[in-house]
Formats: sequence, C-alpha cells, structure tokens
Amino acid sequence: MSFLWEQIGRRAMFGLEAERAHELGMKLLRSGVGGWFAEPDPSVDPDVLAVERFGLKFKNPLGVAAGFDKNGVAVEQLADLGFGFVEVGTVTLHPQSGNEKPRMFRLPQDRALINRLGFNNEGAAAIAERLSKIKPKCVVGVNIGKNRDVPNEEAVENFLAAFEIVHPVADYIAVNISSPNTPGLRELQKAEGLESLLLALQQRNLGLGRKPLLVKIAPDLSEQEIESIVGECVSHGVDGLIATNTTVSREGLTTQNPEQFGAGGMSGKPLELRSNTVVAHAFKYAQGKLPIVGVGGIFDAQDAFEKIRRGAGLLQAYTGFVYGGPGFAHELNAGLSRLITNAGFSSIDDAVGR
Ligand code: FNR
Repeated sequence: MSFLWEQIGRRAMFGLEAERAHELGMKLLRSGVGGWFAEPDPSVDPDVLAVERFGLKFKNPLGVAAGFDKNGVAVEQLADLGFGFVEVGTVTLHPQSGNEKPRMFRLPQDRALINRLGFNNEGAAAIAERLSKIKPKCVVGVNIGKNRDVPNEEAVENFLAAFEIVHPVADYIAVNISSPNTPGLRELQKAEGLESLLLALQQRNLGLGRKPLLVKIAPDLSEQEIESIVGECVSHGVDGLIATNTTVSREGLTTQNPEQFGAGGMSGKPLELRSNTVVAHAFKYAQGKLPIVGVGGIFDAQDAFEKIRRGAGLLQAYTGFVYGGPGFAHELNAGLSRLITNAGFSSIDDAVGR
C-alpha cells in the first residue's frame, strides 16, 4: 500500500502548491479515502506501544503535531490511520485568516517544509463546538495560541479566554509560545512572561476542573533557557513539555537559495538533530517530573526510537506524515514495536531516556 502512495498519491499531491495539497488532503481524509492506503499490522503487540501520561491512556505514543488539523475537522479519521493522539490547533480566541499566501513551501530534496501560516483558524468557539460532537478513538489535545493583533501585555487574557472555551472538549491543553510566525510570541518563553501566563492558566484550570496542561517550546533555545523553562514548568505544575516547534534557522539545507521562501518556521529532517538535543536537555533538567513530547523530523521508526532514547515519553510528527502518506502511523508504530522488543525492552516506558 505504501507503494501505491509513493507512486500515485504523493506524486499527485506534490504536483500541487503545498497549501492547496494540504486542503485537498484534509478533504480526502474526511471522506475516509486515507483508510485505503493504511492498514494496521496484526503482528504488533499493543501492550508494547501503550503508554499512560499525565493520567491519560494512549494506545501508542505517536501523535499528529499541531498545525496539521488546525480546525479539528478530521480527528476521528486521523485516529483511524493509527495515531495515538491528535493535537488540534493552534486555536486562537478569535478566528483569523493568517498571513498572505503563498505561505507554505516544500523542500523535497531536504525532506523539509517552511511555513508562515500565522495561526489561520476558525476560532475557539467554532472549533470547540465541532470537537464536542465527535468521539474519536484517541486522545485529543487542543493547542492554544495568541491572536496576532493582541499585544503581549494583553496575551494572558487572550490565552485565558481561549483556554476556557476549549477546556471542556480537550483531554489536554497545550500552550503554544513558540511559533515563529506570530510576532512577539516567543518572548513569552522568557521567565517573567512565562511565569504570569502559567500562573493564570493553572488558576483557571483548577477552577474549571483540572486538565493536563502542556507547554510547547522552540528549538532555537540555549541549554540555559531550556533549564529555566523546565524549572518554571515544574514549579507551576505543568504536566508536559512539547519539544519542539519549527526553527527559524536554515541550517543543514542542501536546497539552493532557501531565502527564496522568505521568513517562516522550518520543519522536517533538517530540524531533527536540533530537536533531539532540546529533548535531551529538557529530559536532563526535568528529572522525571515532566514528560517530554518529542517532535521534529520523525520520518520512521528509527527516528522515533532515537527520540524516545533521548527522553521523549510521547512523540508527534507533521512533516514526516506529509512525506510518508496515510500509511505513516501504522508503519511507524509496527517498526517501533519491533525496535523496542529487539532492544530487550518490554514497553516504551523501559526505553525512555535510555
Ligand atoms: C506547524 N507547526 C505548528 N505548531 C503549533 O504549535 N501550532 C501550529 O499551528 C503549527 N502549524 C504548523 C504548520 C505547518 C505547515 C507545519 C509544517 C508545522 C509545528 C509542528 O507542530 C511541529 O512542531 C514541527 O513541524 C516539527 O515537527 P515535524 O514537522 O518535523 O514532524
């Protein structure tokens, strides 16, 4: 089946402009066509892949990273393709259309993407309403961000309002302070901004009936900055850290003249090593108190296993899924289960950080 995708599906999709291909892909996914290309491997022992994190049970550790299903339109279908969880969003309080097009580019030679979408989404109320009507066979996270026209001084209120709306329909909520495409957003990763944001969110969280709260960080941080963010997260009872978002760096590219694509966040293979380093640093400073969701450049089971050994207790992918097609999750999970068993471990938990 992966042959069918590589020979026909990917060629057709990659013939289209990247964002149009994504829109078409979402339509096909919703229609159930994805299932034609994706079959679970019956030899996989579900106990090897099952994990429990922050009180939630995941059938496997691989999730769809935020940005893929921004409006929560295909969560059930993504679960059926074999993902253990889907992170919807980034969702902002008010709907917004994002940056001018074109704003998403493929770099096939480097197995990378560059995007500056800028949180185009239908807004918290519409998305929460949609999510309230579905019952997917996986964990559903909602990733929240700040509206572009809201200055950082008013960011806490804007985050809180979005948080309140999505809270009832989310299994966990991820706070995105690391997108490079919303001016000033990454400033909130600094101690002062982060502290007041986390304090306010956790207070509201307690009032609403506590749900797991995760924080998503950038790959473009020093080890010292990671140490400080981990410290803030632990002291405010954050449940997990998602590492990492896209990078503003263009290092490691073989594509000629990457400046032609303009500003934006780069994802995929060239991000992998940087992301793995951030995962390892976060794991080192978290000392088991904060599960790490490893994301950045996962294309196959070996990449997934490497992230787990660096300290990731859960995984997410976006770009690898775009390149790998509908069979991506089932294939990766089958390979990961074999790698775990062959290394002498009996579960994912045995392998984390080892
Ligand atoms: C993203 N990513 C992202 N992250 C986020 O927190 N909110 C978002 O809205 C988006 N949007 C988005 C759009 C596009 C087109 C891409 C490629 C990525 C980042 C994504 O969730 C992930 O952190 C990175 O892409 C790194 O993982 P991969 O793509 O290398 O597996």
